[in-house]
Amino acid sequence: MKVLSVTSEIYPLIKTGGLADVAGALPLALHGFGVQTRSLIPGYPAVMKAIGDKAEKLMDFPDILGETGSLLYARHAGLELLVLDAPAYFNRFGNPYNSSTGEGYSDNWRRFGALAKAAADIAAGALPDWEPDIVHAHDWQAAMTPVYMRYAEAPEKPSIITIHNIAFQGQFDPAIFPALRLPAHAMAVDGVEYYGTVGYLKGGLQAAWAVTTVSPTYADEIQTPQYGMGMEGLISARSETVHGIVNGIDTDVWDPETDDSIARRYSCAKLRQRAQNRETLSERFGLDNDDSPIFCVVSRLTWQKGMDLLAETVGDIVAMGGKLAVLGTGDHHLEHAFERAVRLYPGRVGTIIGYDETLSHTLQAGSDAILIPSRFEPCGLTQLYGLRYGCVPVVARTGGLADTIIDANPAALKAKAATGIQFSPVERTSLVQAIRRTVRLYKDKKVWLQMQKQGMKTDVSWDASAERYAEIYSKLYNMVH
Ligand code: ADP
Ligand code: GLC
Repeated sequence: MKVLSVTSEIYPLIKTGGLADVAGALPLALHGFGVQTRSLIPGYPAVMKAIGDKAEKLMDFPDILGETGSLLYARHAGLELLVLDAPAYFNRFGNPYNSSTGEGYSDNWRRFGALAKAAADIAAGALPDWEPDIVHAHDWQAAMTPVYMRYAEAPEKPSIITIHNIAFQGQFDPAIFPALRLPAHAMAVDGVEYYGTVGYLKGGLQAAWAVTTVSPTYADEIQTPQYGMGMEGLISARSETVHGIVNGIDTDVWDPETDDSIARRYSCAKLRQRAQNRETLSERFGLDNDDSPIFCVVSRLTWQKGMDLLAETVGDIVAMGGKLAVLGTGDHHLEHAFERAVRLYPGRVGTIIGYDETLSHTLQAGSDAILIPSRFEPCGLTQLYGLRYGCVPVVARTGGLADTIIDANPAALKAKAATGIQFSPVERTSLVQAIRRTVRLYKDKKVWLQMQKQGMKTDVSWDASAERYAEIYSKLYNMVH
């Protein structure tokens, strides 16, 4: 089975969040199920630099929504890449979506429209030597792919769209519609029209043969007004083709036994060796080197992630004897709030504003617990990294966090099944209670160790979930063969 995956980011080449991790790891996991994936990605400077001389030109696009481009093929880090080299769209340094002021590029509709159009052309057989059986699009940036496929002249191939976060929908001024070069009737309720605008995700959800999202709970949540962000009607109308498949992680990249970005490697059986990572972390974040619990955060600093609540809770963490290490970037007022906390609580709070992949490993390997108080969380990956590294997750009971962490309630503790702490609702008081509960559990060394070990034993690999994707691909394949 040949699959074309269409994505705006992919680890290890370009990453702003979990989408990249998933887009990078799923193709590798699917290998084992007889699926050959080629990933179509934009030729950002970081991508062009990484593929360098290895790239082979496959074809030209003389006019892709108004600009020229070409398609390159390269193998990198076990992945087969198709790179849309269109400098007018993608030769921009820094964040793939935003200019240096943090605003989305005004031509994002054209950039990602072009990516989708290239994907649809490949699906229709533009490449002489390789044609996919199935096309798999990720998030709004790739969501126009099934739309272009649906309105193309070529016989339609099965398509699948994965929602990683329904909060990002790619909604644009209706004036762009003619430039998309779709037939006029596509600007309709069963096409891309969305409350008078052009909706990329909306169009993709309408056109794709199957819809997946990244956890079973989120699949249910987005069918309700509270989480559906306006799409709940559309999604529930096609709930029979909606699947919630929890993300896995790349257990080679995230393995405390082999991780060369941490000070001291360790295993479940040798958890004591973690102490050295704890020391390194304390030094790096300016934290007192004592036995009180270190809570960490590795996150976008945003409202979705509940970081405003956490900022209000810092004083409570310190009052309970805890320490906090924050690594993140995001809303400026939240960045400032965590920086202010360092001055207020020297030795108890450390903040590093920035994006640092290596340091994120240090935090998972050295902290005692990771705090994830998200208001909504389609899946979440940092709790899975936490499990794998013996860094106990303290999470809001929502989306993938609810599905992947077993709360340390008395029954779970007794059964030795607990892997973390869950709380709800996502409010300051319940967050404070969860932290209090965590501090109490931490003080009971035997119970804490048991929880760490149980987390480390949990299967967070892609094995089971990749199989589910492979099954969906087969089902779609069989619909046309
Ligand atoms: P989301 O994609 O919504 O941001 P996820 O938990 O799915 O949330 O994925 C976030 C990914 O980005 C994880 O791999 C996490 O380790 C990483 N990450 C987030 N912030 C930072 C940061 N400041 N430095 C390094 N890695 C980060
Ligand atoms: C999105 C979601 C996150 C999920 C990631 C990968 O960024 O916010 O919860 O883990 O996609 O699917």
